[in-house]
Amino acid sequence: MTDNHFTHKKDPYYKKAKREGYRARSSYKLLDIQKRFEIFKRTFYILDLGCAPGSWLQVTKKFTEENIEKYKDQYYNRDHYKIMGVDIKKVSPIEDVKIIKADITKLEVQEHIDAFFQDKLDLILSDTSITKIGNKFTDHINQIKLCDKILELAKRNLKFKGKMVLKSFLGNDSEDFTRRVKSQFRIVKGYKPQSSKKRSNEIYLICLGKK
Ligand SMILES: C[S@@+](CC[C@H](N)C(=O)[O-])C[C@H]1O[C@@H](n2cnc3c(N)ncnc32)[C@H](O)[C@@H]1O
Repeated sequence: MTDNHFTHKKDPYYKKAKREGYRARSSYKLLDIQKRFEIFKRTFYILDLGCAPGSWLQVTKKFTEENIEKYKDQYYNRDHYKIMGVDIKKVSPIEDVKIIKADITKLEVQEHIDAFFQDKLDLILSDTSITKIGNKFTDHINQIKLCDKILELAKRNLKFKGKMVLKSFLGNDSEDFTRRVKSQFRIVKGYKPQSSKKRSNEIYLICLGKK
């Protein structure tokens, strides 16, 4: 079980994740985001970027299965979902979830997305982190570069009014980056989940209403 390459057996979220069968403590960040923003409301086609070891995929599957139950009626007619996770690391399989081992900044990812979804996405999740070198400034710049690639990917693949949850690191370029995100989404909010470590400068951008 990992979280940003850091494991602490005394950490309450680490213990909770172990107890509740989640692959990482990060699951509680997404559960917290869901509680606050209901990002899984009416979402059926979902892409999870930087998905290893897979705890966000576990959470995603739980809410998406609930959605199918809820919206299978004559008005919505939803009878299936599609979830795909991508990571450069290998991820143990999860039933009914497509997992791809690839670099999300490379073109091949687009081919996988096109082949699997054949339609626009309702939601993109990204907990993707660069490998930190320990210098806050450089780490921040590199994470923003990665986030810009993800924003491009969202522009192409998210449906109109679609949603995105994107992890970023706070720093000098945050304001400019948020401006770029706002040019693509109607509502953008920064949120630090309770389980996010205090000393971490990570922030999740909750992006609603793709333009
Ligand atoms: C914090 S972990 C994600 C944890 C995951 N949300 C979970 O709950 O299991 C960040 C992940 O981003 C992945 N990553 C970083 N850069 C990537 C890239 N360019 N392409 C694909 N995955 C990447 C790392 O391999 C790492 O597994």
